[in-house]
Order: sequence, then C-alpha cells, then structure tokens
Amino acid sequence: MELELNEILTKQNFTKQELVYLLSLEGVDMQKLLDKALEVKLRYLDNNVHLRGLIEYSNKCRKNCLYCGLRKNISAVNRYELSEEEVLECAKIAIKLHYGSIALQSGERQDENFIEKIEYLIKKIKEISDNKLGITLSLGEQNEDTYRRWFLAGAHRYLLRIETTNEELFYKIHPRDLSHSFQTRKDCIDALLNIGYQTGTGVMIGLPFQTVEDLAEDLLYFKRKEIAMVGMGPFIPHPDTPLYKFKDIIPPNEKRMAMTMKMIAVLRLMMPEINMVSATANQTIDEFGREKAILSGANVIMPNISPKQSRKEYLIYPDKDTVKDSGEWCSNSLDNRMSSINHKVLYDEWGDSVAFTKRQIKR
Ligand code: 5AD
Ligand code: SF4
Repeated sequence: MELELNEILTKQNFTKQELVYLLSLEGVDMQKLLDKALEVKLRYLDNNVHLRGLIEYSNKCRKNCLYCGLRKNISAVNRYELSEEEVLECAKIAIKLHYGSIALQSGERQDENFIEKIEYLIKKIKEISDNKLGITLSLGEQNEDTYRRWFLAGAHRYLLRIETTNEELFYKIHPRDLSHSFQTRKDCIDALLNIGYQTGTGVMIGLPFQTVEDLAEDLLYFKRKEIAMVGMGPFIPHPDTPLYKFKDIIPPNEKRMAMTMKMIAVLRLMMPEINMVSATANQTIDEFGREKAILSGANVIMPNISPKQSRKEYLIYPDKDTVKDSGEWCSNSLDNRMSSINHKVLYDEWGDSVAFTKRQIKR
C-alpha cells in the first residue's frame, strides 16, 4: 500500500484495492481500523443504540436457499404462522418495554392472503400504538405493488439482504431456478429504494467460496445504492441444509467474527450516518459478538420479542442464542451489557437512519 494505514483510515471513499487491504488487516492494524470506526460512529451518531423488537411472524417459506434452516424442502420443520392476536400481543410487549420500533420478519410468501394479512397487521399495529411504533419489514421478495401497499399501510423501513453481490456466488448458495433470481433480488432492492422505504440490505460473511474481493464489492454496492441500513453477519452452517457439506472449507468462527467486525468498521468509515445492525448471528458464534459489533461501528440491536413457543421453530441457523431470551430479560441485560461498553440504549424512539433523514430533507 502506498499510503500509510493511518492516512487511509481518514478517508471515506476507497478503491477496491484499498478495501481488500483493510479487510485483510490483522492484529494491531485491525484494531486500529476498529478503533477508528468507533471514533467515527461516536462523532456522527453518539453512543446511542437503537432497538427493533423482532417478531418472527411465520417460518413458512416458498424458497429453498441452500443455507437456511427454514428452506421449503426441510420437512422436519414444524411450520407456523402467528395469529393476529399473537402479533398484536408482541407489539404490546414492544410498547410496554418502550421499544420505539418493531421488525416483522417471515419466510417468503407471495399469496394474496399473506399480503392482505400483513397490510392489515401494519395498520393495526399503528392503531394500537397511536402511530408511535416504527415498523420495519423483512418479508422477502415481493412485487412493487405489494411493497407499495405495505408502505402506504404504514411500514417505513424494509430489510432485504442481497446475500452477496457476486452473481456466480449467489448461484452457489441458491438453486438456479425462477424462484431464486439474482436479477429479481437486485430489482426488489431498487423498487424499495424507489418507493421511499428506508431500505436495508446486507450480506453473509464467511460463505463457502466467498473471497475478500467479493466482500469489497459488497461494500461498494452499499455505497453506490446509498443504502440507509445494513445488516450483515457471519454465515453459520446448518446441518439440515445443502451448504453444510462445506463447513470445513469456511474460515473458523473467530475468523468469520473478525471479518464481520472489519466489514462493519470499514462500512462505518464509508457511510458514517447509516444504521447498522449487530446481527444475532454474531452472538451465536461469539459470546460477546453483539458487543463486538457495536464496538466496531454497529448501532442497532434487534431483541427477539416473538412468542416463546414459536422461537424454537424459527431456526434459520442452529443454536440461535435468542431462543433462550425472554423479551424483558433481554431488555434488562441489554441495558447492562451496553453500558458496560459505554453505550446507551435509546427507548421510545424510531431511531431512523440519520443518512436517510438528511437525504429526505435535501430533496
Ligand atoms: N447463517 C447465517 N445467516 C443466515 N441467514 C439465513 N441462513 C443463514 C445461515 N445459515 C440470513 C440470510 C437471510 C436472513 C434472514 O438470515 O442473510 O437474509
Ligand atoms: Fe426462506 Fe429467507 Fe430462509 Fe431463503 S433465507 S429459505 S427466503 S426464510
């Protein structure tokens, strides 16, 4: 590298080569990167951590992603869908715990029943919370009309991970058929941005066959698209899925965690005001994974507030740590865990992406 590391760390725009260099740092140099990202985050966004109460609405899914424990072909999964009462009960827990926002997540379904029910639930949640709860959706690929219906009903943020921006890799981790199209995935993200959602995307880190160059391209994609929120976390092999057979060729847990931290840190330098989630998967592979991601530049946490019975059926990857958490327990311990790393959980606020809000004002 021609430039000294210290000098590179003062930049916001990086070449692909510089990104590869930053993502390859180890030891003290890696720590320098993480410290710089934390400093940038504190300067732009303070030490606030925003919450999204996660409601796992249904594990029914039309897709067969090769990495996911909810894929359609796994017949051992007990498929459920929460009732209206159960969802509203979760929303009430969020209100009671002073979470400013909820995130409604589900396996992918595109039937009219599902679309209508979600539309209805969004309106209901808005109604029972006096319009106070922010609503993030994470309900997969839909057509533009559906995205618009849900937006008009009151959802204002949407998360759809691209999973990887390398098309070849995309088809190594998804079946190559009409239901799993890389182009459709990109078009969906563009549609969400067009409609005016605060749009979030992200990738899995440490996938079989994934290179540092791939990850560098992922970061450049987030920047090019002016994404408002990013959620990225380590890939965790699930024994009932086809990708499990590659478990021995992926980097070990510590390496995947370290790469996740570097990805978050570099993106924080590139996009200082976006929202970045500390993914639950961090905690699954590292006891302090959640804190480590926050200290690398993430500023959002999604505590699980789903009913206890359904949590054990929503195992995207094995040993999901939050299966053990109850909402309230989680909330108490969250305050403590965040204050132990000098961060502060913000209650009763939507916690919108500052990057997004500023762009809206400019328009
Ligand atoms: N390991 C880590 N993350 C996973 N996801 C799905 N399966 C896994 C896995 N085995 C992530 C995907 C998806 C999100 C809902 O969960 O990125 O978008
Ligand atoms: Fe379904 Fe999402 Fe899992 Fe793919 S990642 S199988 S779309 S729940």
